[in-house]
Amino acid sequence: MRITPQAMLDPASGSSAAGKAMGVTVTGFDAATASDTDIRTIADAVYRDKIVLLKGQDLSPREFLDLGARFGEPVTYYQPMYRHPDLPEIFVSASEDPLAGSSIRTVGGYGVPKTGKFWHADYQFMPEPFSITLIHPQVVPSRNRGTYFIDMGKAYQRLPDDLREAIAGTTSFHSARRYFKIRPEDVYRPIWEVMEDIERETPPVAQPTVFEHPVTGEAVLFISEGFTYAIEGAEDGVLQRLLHETGQLDPDCAHPNIHLQTYEHGDLLIWDNRSLIHRALHTATPEPTVSHRVTVVDEHKLYARAL
Ligand SMILES: [Fe+2]
Repeated sequence: MRITPQAMLDPASGSSAAGKAMGVTVTGFDAATASDTDIRTIADAVYRDKIVLLKGQDLSPREFLDLGARFGEPVTYYQPMYRHPDLPEIFVSASEDPLAGSSIRTVGGYGVPKTGKFWHADYQFMPEPFSITLIHPQVVPSRNRGTYFIDMGKAYQRLPDDLREAIAGTTSFHSARRYFKIRPEDVYRPIWEVMEDIERETPPVAQPTVFEHPVTGEAVLFISEGFTYAIEGAEDGVLQRLLHETGQLDPDCAHPNIHLQTYEHGDLLIWDNRSLIHRALHTATPEPTVSHRVTVVDEHKLYARAL
């Protein structure tokens, strides 16, 4: 097993973009024979380097789930429409099947299209957000498919001093309501009823705006454009300034904080969901795409302490 830093190319210029590089690449990893020490080494890299890209993986859904379970307790997504039909712990993101003539039927007959096209941490709107996310792309389009990331530990360090002071000791509120996807069973239901369901199933969650990562000890700014809607204890406009400063309002995703992670068939991506936020890049071409996701909670709390 070999771990090397990811050398990222700037997709626009084709030149090396050192400031945007993030994460490590792992070659020679075999999920079937990996020892506990191998898993520990990779978990350490996930916390330290934030993104780990395992190359040359060809795992069945069962093998993928078993691998995920070695990093923590898998959590089944709360909405059934995202679940793999045989293994509900696997979340399926799939493009529309252009031949099916319906946005509900997808490639393979299950999964939800256009997931995660906004900045967020997975399950940030839930009382217990995931610790680690694993993605195993199944069908990869020829181009323009990937995930944008922002390291919210580094982004916090780069904030202007007055903004860091303005949010010290404050509490942020998160909700699923802004990007809630209408489910097949919601069609023809009054929108207000659907909105009441959202508030009942996923009531707003309060978390420290900045917290200490329980493994690395770094300060993490725990907000996102997708899920965070208010900061209690800070003046009006502070949330918008934070979103702007961290790069989340950049429509071109060209902000220096933003890293684009692309992948090819056989890749398996693992990231630290406490300190990274991400946003999907969906191909504009009508090529099929399917991704499997496993999300786990590890043995640590979300944070060591509020800052
Ligand atoms: Fe996500």
